[in-house]
Amino acid sequence: MEDRKPLLEVKNLTKVFRRRGEELTAVNHISFQLYPNEILGIVGESGSGKSTAARLAVRLLDGTEGEIFFDGQDITHVKGRELRRIYRRMQMVFQSPATSFDPRRTLGGSIRESLKNAGLPRGERPARVRELLEMCGLPGEYEKRYPHEVSGGQCQRAAIARALAVSPKLLVCDEATSALDVTVQKQVTGLLAELRERYGMSYLFICHDLALVRDFCDRVLVMEKGRIVEEGPAKQVLLSPRHEYTKKLVESIL
Ligand SMILES: Nc1ncnc2c1ncn2[C@@H]1O[C@H](COP(=O)(O)OP(=O)(O)O)[C@@H](O)[C@H]1O
Ligand SMILES: [Mg+2]
Repeated sequence: MEDRKPLLEVKNLTKVFRRRGEELTAVNHISFQLYPNEILGIVGESGSGKSTAARLAVRLLDGTEGEIFFDGQDITHVKGRELRRIYRRMQMVFQSPATSFDPRRTLGGSIRESLKNAGLPRGERPARVRELLEMCGLPGEYEKRYPHEVSGGQCQRAAIARALAVSPKLLVCDEATSALDVTVQKQVTGLLAELRERYGMSYLFICHDLALVRDFCDRVLVMEKGRIVEEGPAKQVLLSPRHEYTKKLVESIL
């Protein structure tokens, strides 16, 4: 895998939050690569910097230091229109599906908006909306429903459908399956695995459920207080951790 070019590469990424004179280094000089067709997990205690790292990597947040390369392009400082162009190849799904949708819009309306942003001609949008919903295991008729009219699991599927609307190469999932019950969680990760096979997608998969990361991810990064303290094949790291912190994490959860 290492001889291929990474899809996402971050170098020395650092984020210092400053609040009322206090400084907090949420992400401290982390570097990693995510390869095409790879599922890379990030685990670590709450507050270890996982979400900040993900938000930095997809440019939802400006870093204090470091560089980000996506598909060979330096995106460390991209903004505005150029960033929107990048978002045709990189999408995110967050934990709370309900709040990720505009409550006044139908699910179909929100997905159509993404298709519009991706430049799909108007006439092709309705059929594509249904296709995306069905691909994510929802009936096409759900396009008419509002976020509050579907369950959490269904809403998360719709969020994935919307993220997939632009046919991204990279999907960043920040606890995207964490609010779902185990059965729905399995369905969603099953869907993601299937989409990876079909479209050669890559995922940055942030999740506090170590058993799920062990089963779903190829590789994993372990974060402690903003740093990456261990990384390697997910099964190896989570079944026989080397670092003390990972050992404690595994003992406390698995
Ligand atoms: N916008 C922010 N302003 C100030 N501190 C923040 C902000 N976002 C996150 N933090 C702090 O950064 C640290 C890492 O948070 P986060 O990345 O959310 O961790 P995780 O996702 O691993 O739980 C925490 O101490 C958190 O309180
Ligand atoms: Mg988080």
